[in-house]
Amino acid sequence: MNIIVSKDIYLRPYKKKDFDSIYNYSKKKEFVKFMEYKPFTKKTCKDWIKKKLNSKNILFYSIIYNSNVIGTYLITYIGRKKHMCDLSYGLDLNYQKKGIFSRVTKKIISKIGLKRFQIITSTRHKNNIKSIKKLKFKSEGILKNYFFDLKTNKFFDAIIFSKCK
Ligand SMILES: CC(C)(COP(=O)(O)OP(=O)(O)OC[C@H]1O[C@@H](n2cnc3c(N)ncnc32)[C@H](O)[C@@H]1OP(=O)(O)O)[C@@H](O)C(=O)NCCC(=O)NCCS
Repeated sequence: MNIIVSKDIYLRPYKKKDFDSIYNYSKKKEFVKFMEYKPFTKKTCKDWIKKKLNSKNILFYSIIYNSNVIGTYLITYIGRKKHMCDLSYGLDLNYQKKGIFSRVTKKIISKIGLKRFQIITSTRHKNNIKSIKKLKFKSEGILKNYFFDLKTNKFFDAIIFSKCK
């Protein structure tokens, strides 16, 4: 199922031909700055995509902007009744700071009828936290030493947000 966000943006399930675009931005240092990953190599990128695609509870979308693949958006269904989901996403650096994440997330929440949406992100990811709060997600607290950073080999804290219907 595609998710139409606006005239110029939509989400569709990942296709093999999306790989190069995803790899080209996820190999950059700046892209993984607030995530646990090292910049992706072709192999780690392929492995990451394969693992997510193989997971039965994940919907793996590519974000298309004016016909270009500019990011990924993963909806991970969790909970006994699959009544909630975890949102995770990444946008090509050239397409950040344009409000695309916010527009896409708003659409997903309005289209998908779940009891709870949650986002877990690094406490240092200030811009993302600002956007998440603007989308009226509520902070539910700090998750100490939640992520392990493969770049520094150190644990770091996360913050968990939810939006409940
Ligand atoms: C997290 C991430 C997806 C956020 O993307 P983004 O496009 O910058 O986020 P938003 O859509 O909320 O855009 C917000 C910015 O766009 C600006 N903007 C421009 N036009 C806009 C519009 N029409 N509507 C809303 N915001 C707009 C806003 O001013 C805002 O900037 P500000 O906070 O300085 O005011 C992106 O930083 C990213 O991909 N990072 C790398 C991967 C990552 O860390 N993922 C998170 C894992 S949990």
